[in-house]
Amino acid sequence: MKATAKAHTNIALIKYWGKRDESLILPMNNSLSLTLDAFYTETTVTFNHDLDEDIFYLDNELIVGDQYTKVSNFLELIRNFADIPNLFAEIRSTNAVPTAAGFASSASGFAALAAAATRALDLQIDEPTLSRLTRQGSGSACRSIYGGFVEWEKGAEDDGSDSYAVHIAPQDHWDVRVAAVVLSSDMKKVSSREGMKRTVETSPFYSGWVDNIPTDLTQIKAAIHARDFEKMGEIAEANCQKMHATTLGANPPFTYWHDTTLTVMQTVQSLRAKGIAAYFTIDAGPNVKVLYQPENEEVVQQTLLNIPGVTNVILSRSGQGITYK
Ligand code: PMV
Repeated sequence: MKATAKAHTNIALIKYWGKRDESLILPMNNSLSLTLDAFYTETTVTFNHDLDEDIFYLDNELIVGDQYTKVSNFLELIRNFADIPNLFAEIRSTNAVPTAAGFASSASGFAALAAAATRALDLQIDEPTLSRLTRQGSGSACRSIYGGFVEWEKGAEDDGSDSYAVHIAPQDHWDVRVAAVVLSSDMKKVSSREGMKRTVETSPFYSGWVDNIPTDLTQIKAAIHARDFEKMGEIAEANCQKMHATTLGANPPFTYWHDTTLTVMQTVQSLRAKGIAAYFTIDAGPNVKVLYQPENEEVVQQTLLNIPGVTNVILSRSGQGITYK
Protein backbone atom coordinates (compact mmCIF):
# COMPACT_ATOMS: atom_id res chain seq x y z
CA MET A 1 0.00 0.00 0.00
CA LYS A 2 3.04 2.22 -0.41
CA ALA A 3 4.88 3.46 -3.53
CA THR A 4 7.29 6.20 -4.60
CA ALA A 5 7.31 7.88 -8.02
CA LYS A 6 9.33 10.65 -9.61
CA ALA A 7 8.03 12.95 -12.34
CA HIS A 8 9.65 15.86 -14.16
CA THR A 9 8.08 19.16 -15.15
CA ASN A 10 7.57 20.02 -18.78
CA ILE A 11 7.78 23.24 -20.73
CA ALA A 12 5.10 23.82 -23.34
CA LEU A 13 6.36 24.78 -26.80
CA ILE A 14 2.76 24.95 -27.99
CA LYS A 15 0.78 26.18 -24.99
CA TYR A 16 -2.34 24.79 -23.38
CA TRP A 17 -4.42 27.92 -22.81
CA GLY A 18 -8.13 27.65 -22.08
CA LYS A 19 -10.50 24.95 -20.88
CA ARG A 20 -13.68 23.70 -22.47
CA ASP A 21 -14.63 21.93 -19.22
CA GLU A 22 -13.45 23.39 -15.91
CA SER A 23 -14.11 20.44 -13.64
CA LEU A 24 -12.79 17.62 -15.86
CA ILE A 25 -9.95 19.89 -17.06
CA LEU A 26 -10.57 19.49 -20.78
CA PRO A 27 -8.61 21.89 -22.96
CA MET A 28 -9.72 23.98 -25.91
CA ASN A 29 -6.54 23.16 -27.83
CA ASN A 30 -3.86 20.50 -28.23
CA SER A 31 -0.50 21.40 -26.69
CA LEU A 32 3.05 20.11 -27.02
CA SER A 33 5.88 20.07 -24.49
CA LEU A 34 9.42 19.04 -23.70
CA THR A 35 9.96 17.24 -20.39
CA LEU A 36 12.83 18.77 -18.36
CA ASP A 37 15.30 16.77 -16.30
CA ALA A 38 16.34 19.56 -13.88
CA PHE A 39 12.92 20.06 -12.30
CA TYR A 40 11.08 17.22 -10.65
CA THR A 41 8.92 16.05 -7.80
CA GLU A 42 9.37 12.82 -5.90
CA THR A 43 6.33 11.57 -4.03
CA THR A 44 5.65 8.68 -1.67
CA VAL A 45 2.03 7.69 -1.08
CA THR A 46 1.17 5.34 1.78
CA PHE A 47 -2.46 4.23 2.12
CA ASN A 48 -3.34 3.40 5.71
CA HIS A 49 -6.64 2.04 7.16
CA ASP A 50 -5.91 3.84 10.45
CA LEU A 51 -6.12 7.31 8.87
CA ASP A 52 -9.42 9.21 8.85
CA GLU A 53 -8.17 11.84 6.39
CA ASP A 54 -5.27 12.38 4.00
CA ILE A 55 -2.08 13.99 5.32
CA PHE A 56 0.22 15.91 2.97
CA TYR A 57 3.82 16.95 3.59
CA LEU A 58 5.70 19.03 1.03
CA ASP A 59 9.43 19.31 1.60
CA ASN A 60 8.85 17.97 5.15
CA GLU A 61 6.31 20.67 5.98
CA LEU A 62 2.71 19.78 6.86
CA ILE A 63 0.45 21.41 4.26
CA VAL A 64 -3.05 22.73 5.05
CA GLY A 65 -5.43 25.04 3.15
CA ASP A 66 -5.90 25.24 -0.61
CA GLN A 67 -2.82 23.26 -1.55
CA TYR A 68 -3.90 20.40 0.74
CA THR A 69 -7.46 20.49 -0.62
CA LYS A 70 -6.26 20.15 -4.22
CA VAL A 71 -4.14 17.13 -3.34
CA SER A 72 -6.82 15.50 -1.22
CA ASN A 73 -9.49 16.10 -3.90
CA PHE A 74 -7.20 14.44 -6.40
CA LEU A 75 -6.73 11.40 -4.14
CA GLU A 76 -10.52 11.25 -3.81
CA LEU A 77 -10.65 10.90 -7.58
CA ILE A 78 -8.17 7.99 -7.37
CA ARG A 79 -10.25 6.44 -4.57
CA ASN A 80 -13.38 6.65 -6.73
CA PHE A 81 -11.51 5.21 -9.70
CA ALA A 82 -10.19 2.31 -7.58
CA ASP A 83 -13.48 1.91 -5.70
CA ILE A 84 -11.88 2.14 -2.25
CA PRO A 85 -13.97 4.73 -0.36
CA ASN A 86 -12.51 6.07 2.89
CA LEU A 87 -9.04 4.63 2.47
CA PHE A 88 -6.84 7.64 3.21
CA ALA A 89 -3.15 8.18 2.65
CA GLU A 90 -0.06 9.94 3.84
CA ILE A 91 1.60 11.83 0.99
CA ARG A 92 5.20 12.98 1.21
CA SER A 93 6.57 15.07 -1.66
CA THR A 94 9.86 16.77 -2.29
CA ASN A 95 9.99 19.40 -4.96
CA ALA A 96 13.01 20.40 -7.02
CA VAL A 97 10.98 23.21 -8.64
CA PRO A 98 10.49 26.83 -7.49
CA THR A 99 6.75 26.77 -6.73
CA ALA A 100 4.20 28.98 -8.54
CA ALA A 101 6.57 31.17 -10.52
CA GLY A 102 5.71 29.80 -13.93
CA PHE A 103 7.77 26.65 -13.43
CA ALA A 104 4.75 24.37 -13.53
CA SER A 105 5.47 22.64 -10.23
CA SER A 106 1.89 21.41 -10.45
CA ALA A 107 2.87 19.39 -13.53
CA SER A 108 5.54 17.29 -11.85
CA GLY A 109 3.55 17.33 -8.59
CA PHE A 110 0.33 15.80 -9.91
CA ALA A 111 2.14 13.41 -12.26
CA ALA A 112 4.22 12.01 -9.37
CA LEU A 113 1.16 11.87 -7.11
CA ALA A 114 -0.98 10.03 -9.67
CA ALA A 115 1.80 7.55 -10.41
CA ALA A 116 2.65 6.88 -6.75
CA ALA A 117 -1.01 6.57 -5.67
CA THR A 118 -2.01 4.17 -8.45
CA ARG A 119 1.14 2.09 -7.91
CA ALA A 120 0.55 1.99 -4.10
CA LEU A 121 -2.89 0.54 -4.81
CA ASP A 122 -1.40 -1.91 -7.31
CA LEU A 123 -3.77 -0.71 -10.03
CA GLN A 124 -2.73 -2.15 -13.37
CA ILE A 125 -3.33 0.84 -15.62
CA ASP A 126 -1.77 1.80 -18.94
CA GLU A 127 -0.08 5.14 -19.65
CA PRO A 128 -3.06 6.80 -21.39
CA THR A 129 -5.19 6.01 -18.34
CA LEU A 130 -2.53 7.39 -16.01
CA SER A 131 -2.29 10.52 -18.17
CA ARG A 132 -6.09 10.93 -18.14
CA LEU A 133 -6.21 10.66 -14.35
CA THR A 134 -3.27 13.05 -13.96
CA ARG A 135 -4.96 15.60 -16.22
CA GLN A 136 -7.69 16.01 -13.61
CA GLY A 137 -5.15 17.19 -11.04
CA SER A 138 -3.56 19.78 -13.31
CA GLY A 139 -3.91 19.91 -17.08
CA SER A 140 -0.25 20.33 -18.03
CA ALA A 141 0.65 17.47 -15.65
CA CYS A 142 -0.82 14.92 -18.05
CA ARG A 143 2.16 15.56 -20.37
CA SER A 144 4.70 14.74 -17.63
CA ILE A 145 3.89 11.02 -17.82
CA TYR A 146 6.32 10.78 -20.74
CA GLY A 147 9.87 11.97 -21.34
CA GLY A 148 11.11 13.96 -24.34
CA PHE A 149 8.53 15.59 -26.62
CA VAL A 150 4.89 15.03 -25.73
CA GLU A 151 1.54 16.12 -27.16
CA TRP A 152 -1.66 16.43 -25.15
CA GLU A 153 -4.57 15.59 -27.41
CA LYS A 154 -7.54 17.69 -26.41
CA GLY A 155 -10.04 15.00 -27.38
CA ALA A 156 -13.65 15.51 -28.39
CA GLU A 157 -15.65 13.47 -25.87
CA ASP A 158 -17.61 15.23 -23.12
CA ASP A 159 -16.37 12.75 -20.50
CA GLY A 160 -12.69 13.41 -21.30
CA SER A 161 -11.99 9.78 -22.21
CA ASP A 162 -9.96 10.82 -25.28
CA SER A 163 -8.10 13.73 -23.68
CA TYR A 164 -4.61 12.54 -22.69
CA ALA A 165 -0.94 12.81 -23.65
CA VAL A 166 0.85 10.86 -26.37
CA HIS A 167 4.56 10.46 -27.02
CA ILE A 168 5.99 12.44 -29.96
CA ALA A 169 9.72 11.69 -29.58
CA PRO A 170 11.73 10.06 -26.76
CA GLN A 171 14.17 11.78 -24.39
CA ASP A 172 17.21 10.79 -26.45
CA HIS A 173 15.72 11.88 -29.79
CA TRP A 174 17.43 15.25 -29.66
CA ASP A 175 19.74 17.08 -27.25
CA VAL A 176 17.82 20.35 -26.94
CA ARG A 177 18.67 22.42 -23.86
CA VAL A 178 16.54 24.81 -21.85
CA ALA A 179 17.80 27.61 -19.60
CA ALA A 180 15.25 28.60 -16.96
CA VAL A 181 15.78 32.29 -16.25
CA VAL A 182 14.63 33.16 -12.74
CA LEU A 183 13.55 36.77 -12.28
CA SER A 184 11.65 36.79 -9.09
CA SER A 185 10.48 34.25 -6.55
CA ASP A 186 7.26 36.21 -6.02
CA MET A 187 4.09 34.16 -6.24
CA LYS A 188 2.26 34.92 -9.46
CA LYS A 189 -0.79 37.16 -9.08
CA VAL A 190 -3.14 35.59 -11.61
CA SER A 191 -3.14 31.78 -11.45
CA SER A 192 -3.13 29.89 -14.75
CA ARG A 193 -6.62 28.63 -13.88
CA GLU A 194 -8.00 32.15 -13.38
CA GLY A 195 -5.95 33.60 -16.25
CA MET A 196 -7.17 31.15 -18.86
CA LYS A 197 -10.76 31.37 -17.64
CA ARG A 198 -10.80 35.16 -17.92
CA THR A 199 -9.19 35.00 -21.34
CA VAL A 200 -11.61 32.41 -22.76
CA GLU A 201 -14.61 34.34 -21.43
CA THR A 202 -13.61 37.88 -22.35
CA SER A 203 -10.70 38.18 -24.80
CA PRO A 204 -11.68 38.90 -28.42
CA PHE A 205 -8.26 37.50 -29.40
CA TYR A 206 -9.03 34.07 -27.98
CA SER A 207 -10.69 32.62 -31.09
CA GLY A 208 -7.64 33.63 -33.14
CA TRP A 209 -5.45 31.71 -30.70
CA VAL A 210 -7.49 28.53 -31.05
CA ASP A 211 -7.72 28.79 -34.86
CA ASN A 212 -3.96 29.06 -35.18
CA ILE A 213 -3.03 25.99 -33.12
CA PRO A 214 -3.36 23.25 -35.79
CA THR A 215 -0.86 25.04 -38.08
CA ASP A 216 1.65 25.60 -35.26
CA LEU A 217 1.35 21.96 -34.20
CA THR A 218 1.82 20.50 -37.65
CA GLN A 219 4.87 22.66 -38.27
CA ILE A 220 6.53 22.11 -34.91
CA LYS A 221 6.10 18.33 -35.09
CA ALA A 222 7.78 18.33 -38.51
CA ALA A 223 10.63 20.46 -37.09
CA ILE A 224 11.06 18.14 -34.09
CA HIS A 225 11.17 15.03 -36.27
CA ALA A 226 13.66 16.72 -38.64
CA ARG A 227 15.69 18.11 -35.68
CA ASP A 228 15.41 21.57 -37.23
CA PHE A 229 16.28 23.76 -34.22
CA GLU A 230 15.65 27.17 -35.82
CA LYS A 231 12.25 26.13 -37.12
CA MET A 232 11.19 24.62 -33.80
CA GLY A 233 12.39 27.68 -31.89
CA GLU A 234 10.66 30.16 -34.19
CA ILE A 235 7.32 28.37 -33.86
CA ALA A 236 7.62 27.98 -30.08
CA GLU A 237 8.58 31.64 -29.56
CA ALA A 238 5.75 32.90 -31.75
CA ASN A 239 3.23 30.56 -30.11
CA CYS A 240 4.21 31.89 -26.68
CA GLN A 241 3.67 35.47 -27.81
CA LYS A 242 0.27 34.62 -29.26
CA MET A 243 -0.80 33.08 -25.95
CA HIS A 244 0.34 36.10 -23.97
CA ALA A 245 -1.35 38.46 -26.46
CA THR A 246 -4.72 36.93 -25.54
CA THR A 247 -4.30 38.12 -21.94
CA LEU A 248 -3.95 41.74 -23.07
CA GLY A 249 -7.33 41.48 -24.75
CA ALA A 250 -9.03 40.10 -21.63
CA ASN A 251 -11.35 42.11 -19.41
CA PRO A 252 -9.82 43.27 -17.15
CA PRO A 253 -6.60 43.00 -19.14
CA PHE A 254 -3.54 41.48 -17.51
CA THR A 255 -0.05 40.28 -18.31
CA TYR A 256 2.38 37.85 -16.68
CA TRP A 257 5.38 39.84 -17.93
CA HIS A 258 7.59 42.04 -15.76
CA ASP A 259 9.99 44.63 -17.12
CA THR A 260 12.85 42.14 -16.80
CA THR A 261 10.79 39.59 -18.75
CA LEU A 262 10.86 41.97 -21.72
CA THR A 263 14.58 42.58 -21.25
CA VAL A 264 15.24 38.82 -21.37
CA MET A 265 13.09 38.47 -24.51
CA GLN A 266 15.03 41.27 -26.22
CA THR A 267 18.36 39.78 -25.11
CA VAL A 268 17.43 36.43 -26.66
CA GLN A 269 16.56 38.21 -29.92
CA SER A 270 19.89 40.03 -29.84
CA LEU A 271 21.71 36.71 -29.35
CA ARG A 272 20.07 35.57 -32.57
CA ALA A 273 21.18 38.74 -34.34
CA LYS A 274 24.74 37.66 -33.43
CA GLY A 275 24.17 34.25 -35.00
CA ILE A 276 23.44 32.28 -31.81
CA ALA A 277 20.27 30.27 -32.16
CA ALA A 278 18.25 30.84 -28.98
CA TYR A 279 14.48 31.18 -28.54
CA PHE A 280 12.30 32.06 -25.55
CA THR A 281 9.05 30.77 -24.17
CA ILE A 282 7.08 31.92 -21.11
CA ASP A 283 4.33 30.25 -19.08
CA ALA A 284 1.85 31.83 -16.68
CA GLY A 285 4.47 33.81 -14.77
CA PRO A 286 7.29 36.31 -15.29
CA ASN A 287 10.15 33.82 -15.74
CA VAL A 288 11.52 32.99 -19.17
CA LYS A 289 12.78 29.67 -20.52
CA VAL A 290 15.36 29.85 -23.29
CA LEU A 291 15.82 27.04 -25.81
CA TYR A 292 19.38 26.60 -27.08
CA GLN A 293 21.77 24.02 -28.48
CA PRO A 294 24.57 22.36 -26.44
CA GLU A 295 27.42 24.14 -28.26
CA ASN A 296 26.03 27.54 -27.19
CA GLU A 297 25.54 26.69 -23.52
CA GLU A 298 28.28 28.90 -22.11
CA VAL A 299 27.46 32.05 -24.08
CA VAL A 300 23.71 31.69 -23.48
CA GLN A 301 24.14 31.17 -19.73
CA GLN A 302 26.59 34.05 -19.30
CA THR A 303 24.53 36.46 -21.38
CA LEU A 304 21.39 35.70 -19.39
CA LEU A 305 23.17 35.93 -16.01
CA ASN A 306 24.47 39.40 -16.95
CA ILE A 307 20.97 40.85 -17.30
CA PRO A 308 20.14 43.12 -14.33
CA GLY A 309 17.19 41.64 -12.43
CA VAL A 310 18.01 38.03 -13.32
CA THR A 311 18.65 36.16 -10.08
CA ASN A 312 19.47 32.69 -11.42
CA VAL A 313 19.76 30.65 -14.60
CA ILE A 314 19.09 26.93 -14.24
CA LEU A 315 20.16 24.71 -17.12
CA SER A 316 18.20 21.66 -18.12
CA ARG A 317 18.23 18.87 -20.67
CA SER A 318 15.43 16.78 -21.99
CA GLY A 319 13.98 14.72 -19.14
CA GLN A 320 12.49 11.28 -18.68
CA GLY A 321 8.95 10.19 -17.98
CA ILE A 322 7.63 8.68 -14.75
CA THR A 323 10.00 6.43 -12.83
CA TYR A 324 9.27 4.34 -9.73
CA LYS A 325 11.55 3.46 -6.82
O1 PMV B 1 -1.85 23.00 -16.05
P1 PMV B 1 -1.77 24.39 -15.53
O2 PMV B 1 -2.99 24.82 -14.84
O3 PMV B 1 -0.52 24.59 -14.70
O4 PMV B 1 -1.66 25.40 -16.79
C1 PMV B 1 -0.53 25.50 -17.59
C2 PMV B 1 -0.62 26.61 -18.54
C3 PMV B 1 0.69 27.02 -19.21
O5 PMV B 1 1.80 26.67 -18.41
C4 PMV B 1 0.68 28.53 -19.39
C5 PMV B 1 0.84 26.41 -20.60
C6 PMV B 1 1.19 24.94 -20.64
O6 PMV B 1 0.80 24.31 -21.63
O7 PMV B 1 1.88 24.41 -19.75
